[in-house]
Amino acid sequence: MSTPPLSAEQEALFRLIEDTREHVFVTGRAGTGKSTLLKHLAWNTEKSIAVCAPTGVAALNVEGQTIHSLFRLPIGLIADQELEQSDATRKILNAIDTLVIDEISMVNADLMDGIDRSLRQARGRRAEPFGGVQIVMFGDPYQLAPVPPRGDEMHYIRDHYRSFWFFDAHVWTGTQSALKDAPSLEGFAELGSFGATLHVRELVDIHRQADPAFKAMLNAVRHGRVTADIAQILNDTGARTPPDPVDGETPIITLATRNDIVNAINRRHLDALPGRTQTANAEISGDFGRGDAAYPADVELQLKVGAQVMFLRNDVSTFGEPPRWVNGTIGTVTRITGATVKVEVEHREFDVEPAVWERFRYSYNAGTRTLSRDVVAEFTQFPLRLAWAVTIHKSQGKTYERAVVDLGSGAFAPGQTYVALSRLTSLDGLYLSRPLRPSDIRVDPDVQRFMAGVVRAPAAS
Ligand SMILES: Nc1ncnc2c1ncn2[C@@H]1O[C@H](COP(=O)(O)OP(=O)(O)OP(=O)(O)O)[C@@H](O)[C@H]1O
Ligand SMILES: [Mg+2]
Repeated sequence: MSTPPLSAEQEALFRLIEDTREHVFVTGRAGTGKSTLLKHLAWNTEKSIAVCAPTGVAALNVEGQTIHSLFRLPIGLIADQELEQSDATRKILNAIDTLVIDEISMVNADLMDGIDRSLRQARGRRAEPFGGVQIVMFGDPYQLAPVPPRGDEMHYIRDHYRSFWFFDAHVWTGTQSALKDAPSLEGFAELGSFGATLHVRELVDIHRQADPAFKAMLNAVRHGRVTADIAQILNDTGARTPPDPVDGETPIITLATRNDIVNAINRRHLDALPGRTQTANAEISGDFGRGDAAYPADVELQLKVGAQVMFLRNDVSTFGEPPRWVNGTIGTVTRITGATVKVEVEHREFDVEPAVWERFRYSYNAGTRTLSRDVVAEFTQFPLRLAWAVTIHKSQGKTYERAVVDLGSGAFAPGQTYVALSRLTSLDGLYLSRPLRPSDIRVDPDVQRFMAGVVRAPAAS
């Protein structure tokens, strides 16, 4: 995996993680290079690290393991359940210096405390937060929120936590804002003496967009401070019909709120194309988890010549040359044979072969006394998906030059409109299927409260 050379602030954060044992939450606006720094860290650290993420697909993206499988935690609420740990799990958790968690905004407070308790127990260091392991987390809470708990789980979280966000976990008693009139700390008073301090470090420089005016507009959307002027510029710019695709030019993708809308758009366009639909079936070996959410691509990928597709992986097959495509690149299918799919990207045609996604699991090697990372399951499929439309959720982390933002009956999640708009490299690429409404701009009040209260330091301090 190649990454651009780190900027000064990314480098400073890399050093902070390498040279100290502080628990760090690396955050920053969309496009500030959080994912880039995580990849650099995974490849260049000298510490014994384990990389994990809350969902299967997020774990695949960072070549890590899901939190639940790494810690062998029960699904659902953990609360004060007894944690069963096998010898193998204990050995793995004992070999870690640093635990890296990506997409931390999707981790809830109960799971964060479960990670803490699990590490204390496995390492036999019950009085130390995380059993002495350094925690490094990446994410932007203004983008993705945890899946809200339901029913009894919701009641439990409400009774025990200030909010379901990871930053309100009891373990973070050392973080200034977490202590302020938190209703739930009484039962955990003893934690106060050995809770952990969360150091929030913010990357400031945006690499995805260059235009200062557009950056300022995105920032206003992020914080729910869209003025009438900003709304008017966005709506006036976006109010135009996307041009018909010109041969060889990058087609335009639609970012929509819901799965059913996305599927309907893709289905309609696929049906409208002449020719035969061909289906590529994924090969799955080992335990890859179940359900569409566990899979990184379609199990049955339906394609036709002329179909608009998006790459789901970075190109890795060119040595010493720039990659032909990256995760998110859009192109058009020009030919389908059994073994390859030809895809045209900006007037160039590439042979695309099936890619293998590897599900990793950490294990402890007693001989070398180190962690090793083993492949336990594989998913093989063309790294493509139909891309007349994708959900805003699945567009997370991606970059587009042009896109139609279709908020349909309205953004339903905090941060959704911010994620959609911040995928664009410039305002010139914005098309809106309808004007933005004030109700589309939603900011989670718990995120606002936390981010306003933390002692923030720029990355380079
Ligand atoms: N130091 C750098 N120099 C040049 N380009 C960079 C640098 N860091 C990141 N980029 C580029 O900027 C873009 C955004 O970076 P990245 O995806 O890491 O940001 P992010 O903070 O993870 O964004 P998001 O919040 O949207 O996931 C990418 O195209 C990446 O290659
Ligand atoms: Mg990212």
